[in-house]
Amino acid sequence: MSELIRYQPDAALSAVPDTGFPQASAELLAARKAVLRDTQAFADGAFETESKQPLDAGFVDWPQQLLEDMKRNGAASLIAQIEQCAARLRGAVDSVVVLGIGGSYMGMRAMFEALCDPWHNELDRAARQDVPAIYFEGWNVDSDQQRALLRLLQSRASRHGRDTVAGRTAVIVISKSGGTLETAIAFRNFRAFIEHNFPDEIRNLIVPVTGDAGKLRNLAENAGYEDVFSIPDGIGGRFSVLTAVGLLPAAVAGINIRRLLQGAADMTEHFREADFGANAVLDYTAMGHLLEQPPFGMTTRVLSTWGSRLEAVGLWYDQLLSESLGKAEKGATPLTGVNTRDLHSRGQQHQDGRRDKLITNLLPGAPSQEPLGIPSQKDDADELNRFSGLSVPEILQAAIAGTNQAYAKDKRPTADLILPAITEHSVGQLFQLLMLATVTEGELIGVNPYGQPGVEDYKNNMMSILQQQIC
Ligand code: PA5
Repeated sequence: MSELIRYQPDAALSAVPDTGFPQASAELLAARKAVLRDTQAFADGAFETESKQPLDAGFVDWPQQLLEDMKRNGAASLIAQIEQCAARLRGAVDSVVVLGIGGSYMGMRAMFEALCDPWHNELDRAARQDVPAIYFEGWNVDSDQQRALLRLLQSRASRHGRDTVAGRTAVIVISKSGGTLETAIAFRNFRAFIEHNFPDEIRNLIVPVTGDAGKLRNLAENAGYEDVFSIPDGIGGRFSVLTAVGLLPAAVAGINIRRLLQGAADMTEHFREADFGANAVLDYTAMGHLLEQPPFGMTTRVLSTWGSRLEAVGLWYDQLLSESLGKAEKGATPLTGVNTRDLHSRGQQHQDGRRDKLITNLLPGAPSQEPLGIPSQKDDADELNRFSGLSVPEILQAAIAGTNQAYAKDKRPTADLILPAITEHSVGQLFQLLMLATVTEGELIGVNPYGQPGVEDYKNNMMSILQQQIC
């Protein structure tokens, strides 16, 4: 097994020593047992239990199941089918638009930002290693932004020719329910774009990823698209990043989806087997939960990513925690920060504001590229020559240590989630760690993490307002 993510809570324990952290094991172990019991109930065919309606526990064993399916079924396995479709799209087009919102968007965005070149879309095709430029839409209702992307794609089709790879675009439309308005409206526009520009290739250039029933499923069947992928029942939207929802666009983007799945499967095994005190999922869950309880009342969880590449993982986690546990007036409030950027904005409040925050540093590990240095300058007007023997990652380490020291001095609790490096394997682990921690915490606070009844109100109101407008 490759190196696992580590959770290091020592600084939080020194800042707030009387949390009872080591004694929390009995409660935590019971919560793990309940999560694993639900997982088994789900595997036995239950989609609801007495305490959980719905029960969307399918994500827990899913990565391992996909890997086993690949070993057993080879080219007929889901992983192979996803990889084949991705290879087909990569060979056919130079622009791919991924449409989706919430759980049908944020996980892929997180992978794209973490694992692809930060300037991927700006590189020429050879430098992108024949991976198309990737765009995200359908995650908002923003006419100007959508029009700007359509205009860009249209200009590529006109400039390079509609029958060239450089001029062609494909659309991956993702919606589990198949009826989400934001995605559906965007799909109308991008489908019209494909139909207008590439009338002979519509079936190949649109790939839906959807549940087994719903409007998008019906539309896909009627249209006869060459590839349509399913989102399994029992894996809820925000838990679906390692289904075709995230895996198909990730494979198109050249991300090694087998390593992603292996990372997630390794984390599930770690969650099942490792003891409290050496179990990243249980320890992370315990710290957040204990500090949220009275008398500490630390109801804000800051996920402080050091470097920009993990910001979108943080935004994915914002959704996961908010939609899963923000129910019945419970659930901590997540907040993603990017340092050192946010030291110059939120830093003041984190250092000096209300004592309602647990800060978890998300540490990216070894840089993927050769580290930048600090060039020496003749004039030394900025007086930086004294640091010219240091690398930029060493400067970052100093910022991390300095910030943690400042928080420790004022007894502001911080903990560390330490990635070995930002790789497919560690990102897969991170997704699974945070999903498992969320459902384990649901057990601790008596909240069903699945379903999101609270977001139905805005949807219903919006629909009735629209109905009134057309009457
Ligand atoms: O977690 C969830 O279920 C939601 O955030 C959904 O992912 C989001 O509402 C999008 O739904 P759908 O995939 O059905 O379009």
